[in-house]
Amino acid sequence: MSQASQAGKPARIGTPRQDAALAEILGEYKHEKGALIPVLQKTQEVYGYVPREAMARISQDLKVPMSKLYGIATFYAQFHLKPRGENIIRVCQGTACHVRGGARILEAVQKELGIKPGETTPDLRFTIEPVACLGACGLSPVMMVNDDTYGRLTPEMVSEILARYARAAESA
Ligand code: FES
Repeated sequence: MSQASQAGKPARIGTPRQDAALAEILGEYKHEKGALIPVLQKTQEVYGYVPREAMARISQDLKVPMSKLYGIATFYAQFHLKPRGENIIRVCQGTACHVRGGARILEAVQKELGIKPGETTPDLRFTIEPVACLGACGLSPVMMVNDDTYGRLTPEMVSEILARYARAAESA
C-alpha cells in the first residue's frame, strides 16, 4: 500500500486533474455496475489509455473483479492498456497500398521514429498503429497521422510529414 493511500488519500494515477475526472466518472457510475464499457471508455478519454491503476480503482469503487475489467479491456480493440503517443500514425498495409510500396513507407516511419508498429516513442509523441485498410485505396500508399490523410507517399516524404507534428508538439 502506498503512503498516499495509507493516509486515506488514493494514490496518484495521472495528473491531479485526470484523477479528479476519474473520481467523477466513478461517482457517476456508482449505481450502474453493469456499465463497465462506458466507464472504461471514459477512463481512456481521461488518460489516453486505461492504466492498470485506474482499473484497480474502478474494481475497488464499483466492486467488480479486476479479471472482469481485464476481460473487457482486452476483448475490445478500442481499449489501450499501454500509454499512447500524442500523435497516432497509421501506415496502411492493405493490399492496394502494399502493391504500391506501403511496406517501404512503414519502414521509413519506423526508421524515423525508432519504434515498431504497436510501439510508442519514449517521449510519448508518436505511436505507430498497425492497420489494414484506411479506405483511401485510390491514394495508395497512404498513411494517416491522427485525422490527417497523406496519400501517394514516397519514403522521402515521411520525414518532412513527421517533422511537422514534432514541431507542433514542441510549440504547444
Ligand atoms: S489498401 Fe491502403 S487505403 Fe486501402
